[in-house]
Amino acid sequence: MYSKREKELFHQAYQEVDKHKYTVSQDPFRLHYHIMPPVGLLNDPNGFIHFKGVYHLFYQWNPFATEHGSKFWGHFSSTDLVNWVEEPIALAPSEWYEKNGCYSGSAVEHEGKLILFYTGNVKNKEGNRETYQCIAISEDGLHFQKKGPVIHLPKGYTAHFRDPKVWKKKDTWYAVIGAQSERGEGRAVLYSSKDLFTWNLLGPIAGSNLNGLGNFGFMWECPDLFELNGHDVLIVSPQGLNPKGYFYHNLYQAGYFVGQMDYEKAAFKHGEFVELDRGFDFYAPQTTLDEKGRRILFGWMGVPEENESYHPTIHYHWIHCMTIPRKLELKNGKIYQQPVEELQVLRDKQVAYPNVHLNGNTIELEQVKGKAVEMMIDSITSHTASIEISFRGTARFIYDPIEKLATFERQSLKENKMEKRHCPLQSLHKIHIFLDASSLEIFLNDGEEVFSSRIFGNPSDETIMFSSNGDTGFHLKKWNLKKIF
Ligand code: FRU
Repeated sequence: MYSKREKELFHQAYQEVDKHKYTVSQDPFRLHYHIMPPVGLLNDPNGFIHFKGVYHLFYQWNPFATEHGSKFWGHFSSTDLVNWVEEPIALAPSEWYEKNGCYSGSAVEHEGKLILFYTGNVKNKEGNRETYQCIAISEDGLHFQKKGPVIHLPKGYTAHFRDPKVWKKKDTWYAVIGAQSERGEGRAVLYSSKDLFTWNLLGPIAGSNLNGLGNFGFMWECPDLFELNGHDVLIVSPQGLNPKGYFYHNLYQAGYFVGQMDYEKAAFKHGEFVELDRGFDFYAPQTTLDEKGRRILFGWMGVPEENESYHPTIHYHWIHCMTIPRKLELKNGKIYQQPVEELQVLRDKQVAYPNVHLNGNTIELEQVKGKAVEMMIDSITSHTASIEISFRGTARFIYDPIEKLATFERQSLKENKMEKRHCPLQSLHKIHIFLDASSLEIFLNDGEEVFSSRIFGNPSDETIMFSSNGDTGFHLKKWNLKKIF
């Protein structure tokens, strides 16, 4: 049973959806097959789980504005990771311990129930932040009953303590929480529990100035710890890294450490931090292990505070979207990300060019254009000439085999200039592209690197052009992708 306050908040949010439905639907930048909010602002993926044969994906949602605020948990479900149903709102910030937002968290299944863990965010009378890690339980996966806080802020940390990710190992539950130490250092903090309600603090397992890492940011958000191909992986979104060579040029980062977790000692030995995505828009990813045994990831295709007020979609009362779902694998100590194979059901009208040849020129290929397009480019022959693909005159991917450098550039959202992101890459043999009405995800070499970005050019420009500074050839397949949303 929902409380009066919950019902009120649900009602206000649905009213907001109805009020702007038409305006939102008129935006040419509405995506065709990416998860978006019906109105307002979407950020982190939350509570991602495969529960009784159905995928549930919740998301941080501010229904009332295209800015951050007191977040709700919106909810989508799917049986195939492609076709999504918009479900009733899961959580609204109705209680004292979450009055300024039901912040990010995760889901587990226990005794046939779907259980959510999330952060209750409070700004108190003095204007200070308070944080409570809370639980909500559902019998049917659709309606949630709140049980209140189960973890309180421990000593040694500021109130930037949030985003619980919970999992089970043998007969013990664990939670990893994003935190800031009192000295202003980012942390991932581990807890354990036998019953999901009583939690023991085990301590920090990684963080700035821990495990030989050096200075590594003032806050770590949205941690996620899981086993992948026999190793333990900690994903985290650190805030406060300075740009370093080609890396860390977005305002905030999202990446991972590969290591070995000693659960007895609550210690995580790990290697270096590696960014998961090389594009402009990727943050706060979350994974789940599905019933087929795959580790699947969704990311938010956005970055907090990064030019959000310049997104043109805010004029249509909405902002941001998720990435497509990606399957993770660990090869030679590196995470590879591949679009899940289910996405192939989106394909329509295949066009194939078995032998494209470029010789220092720029070409367009008949029918290789569109609003929602998948492209597979392989058998790339050149070892010296560059390969360039430009999209709608607003974004460009370039690989330079001499410099061994992949580059993505797009028209800045804020200024009249192109902006760039780079990533070193030894060689390039395959490019797999997912283009949507205002997004572009480029997977290189079967997921060795990924560039994800929003792009906002002229909505009626659907051109795709290919060029090279020398002699090069490749095979190309292209599909139109069906509209889901
Ligand atoms: C990450 C984040 C989380 C927080 C949520 C609030 O983007 O800041 O740390 O729980 O968003 O919406």
